Amino acid sequence: MNAAGERRRLVVAITGASGAIYACKLLERLGRMAGMEVHALISDAGRQVLRLEAGLAPEDLPGVEKWFAADDFTAPMASGSARYHGMVIVPCTTGTLAAIAAGLSRNCIHRAADVMLKERRPLVLAVRETPLGRSHLENMLRVHDAGGIICPAMPAFYHRPADLDDLADQFAGRLLDQLGLHAPGLRRWGGD
Ligand SMILES: Cc1cc2nc3c(=O)[nH]c(=O)nc-3n(C[C@H](O)[C@H](O)[C@H](O)COP(=O)(O)O)c2cc1C
Repeated sequence: MNAAGERRRLVVAITGASGAIYACKLLERLGRMAGMEVHALISDAGRQVLRLEAGLAPEDLPGVEKWFAADDFTAPMASGSARYHGMVIVPCTTGTLAAIAAGLSRNCIHRAADVMLKERRPLVLAVRETPLGRSHLENMLRVHDAGGIICPAMPAFYHRPADLDDLADQFAGRLLDQLGLHAPGLRRWGGD
């Protein structure tokens, strides 16, 4: 809930980078959070990779109140007047990163990210690529300088993840941290 007792609205976008499991784990966590309303977007490539890596369609994912088509510029998150706490793109391709860095707004994912930056709301990009080329690094710096948070899909191992689910869940918790949201069960170095 926000200070006015309203449910917090969050945009979650899935693009076509490897790491669909991170999106699944983040949505599972958000689905367990009271007072949270998730509006989701997925690119065509995101849909393909989700199917390929997890055998799932977007509609199979938990925690989403409403799906919007990535080409639908009438979706509420396309306007700064719509109230959102913030946005996370997970996983985020280098193509989407580049579009955001350049302010292209070619689809509603890019546009919503642009809106978050101009409205000074948290925008978290779980960029995934390896190795990183010069344009990727430059675009990350551009988005960072514009106020976005680059949170590459680089999971930690010091908490000794039991399995892949645990690894991805802990990374999803770190994404919530970056959005300023509560992340129950996140194993922190030094404890809570
Ligand atoms: C299985 C698969 C894995 C991919 N992994 C990555 C990746 O890790 N990072 C990346 O930047 N692009 C990756 N791509 C390529 C993107 O999906 C492609 O550039 C696409 O145009 C991105 O569009 P989007 O940003 O609108 O989702 C992958 C594609 C496939 C099919």
